[in-house]
Amino acid sequence: MSICNREGGRCAEMAMVCLTDFEEYAKEHLSKATWDYYAAGADECCTRDDNLLAYKRIRLRPRILRDVSVSDTRTTVQGTEISFPVGIAPTAFHCLAWHEGEVATARATEALNTCYITSTYSTCSVEEIAAAAPNGYRWFQLYVYRDRKLSEQIVHRVEGLGYKALVLTVDVPYTGKRRDDIRNQFKLPPHLKVKNFDGVFQETAGAEEYGIPANTLDPSISWKDVYWLQSITRLPVIIKGILTKEDAELAVEHGVSGIIVSNHGGRQLDGGPASIDALSEIVDTVQGRIEVYLDGGIRTGSDVLKALALGAKCVFIGRPAVWGLAYKGEEGLREVLQILNDEFRLSMALSGCRNVAEINRNLIQFSKL
Ligand code: FNR
Repeated sequence: MSICNREGGRCAEMAMVCLTDFEEYAKEHLSKATWDYYAAGADECCTRDDNLLAYKRIRLRPRILRDVSVSDTRTTVQGTEISFPVGIAPTAFHCLAWHEGEVATARATEALNTCYITSTYSTCSVEEIAAAAPNGYRWFQLYVYRDRKLSEQIVHRVEGLGYKALVLTVDVPYTGKRRDDIRNQFKLPPHLKVKNFDGVFQETAGAEEYGIPANTLDPSISWKDVYWLQSITRLPVIIKGILTKEDAELAVEHGVSGIIVSNHGGRQLDGGPASIDALSEIVDTVQGRIEVYLDGGIRTGSDVLKALALGAKCVFIGRPAVWGLAYKGEEGLREVLQILNDEFRLSMALSGCRNVAEINRNLIQFSKL
């Protein structure tokens, strides 16, 4: 007998089989304002929705009789080995989903041996996150503030804590218009803080956007700021939010170490391409000079396979990680990652790939695109 109280709802006792089971659970159990915040896309949510639909338009060309009795999902990013090519994209405010917040995220990703990109807007500090999972492989996501000293200080903090790369998010000169957040007047509840800037932002009076004072991000940032960032750090700089071959070329010319093809989960410009649809032109332009990653709409192992076949070195999940946290914290996120790993391994085997090096464009049925 189910001990689930809510009719038609998903309870913790039901088997979790795929990532959408976690989505359903999160929708059922989070407050409406929190659910809406995580789910939000910009404006009419066309790009957010297309991020998922685009994978369904892609068909695979499986190879057979290739002895897939042993399969190996390991890969490397920036020279470091991870257990499979799926990491955690930076998302804000994990304490809204689970009381331990980013500390749970750090532990789950350390356990699964993959990469966790910590958001600037974490509800645990970068120090707490590093201490919770001392052997975890982490990158830090950065915005550039009008007050450059704020950015500089956090860069030096994460460098000292052993974060291995800086991910500069470049698609937020202004925050996209997310209708439900406006309707809900979404705000970080008073018991939670943007911990990395505790005492800095909190003392600033005035209008707020998502728990920090409005207008803190610098909309004037441009390519010269990439050089500025490189001048204050020895960490590799990876740019997140590129969607065109022109910008990919500029990124390479500016000496960055990687690109994350991303439309911010459809939360910024509505009407931009699904990230998987933007991938090929970027991979073709970059020609292997730097690593190209992707986020947006990854929900199954075959999505991961398709992204790798089209040239991504690794992909990152945003919302599904938060759903895992909402389910059971560290354990829930481990389950999400394990399911994705198992599905990816199976998709690899069913398409005749024994390791990630064997995944290439021949797997994609271009005539159907
Ligand atoms: C984000 N994203 C994001 N990106 C970033 O660079 N810094 C951030 O703080 C956040 N915060 C954030 C919060 C929430 C609730 C979401 C859903 C997304 C974007 C994120 O890194 C990533 O690009 C998308 O989430 C990927 O799409 P999927 O996997 O959610 O479909």
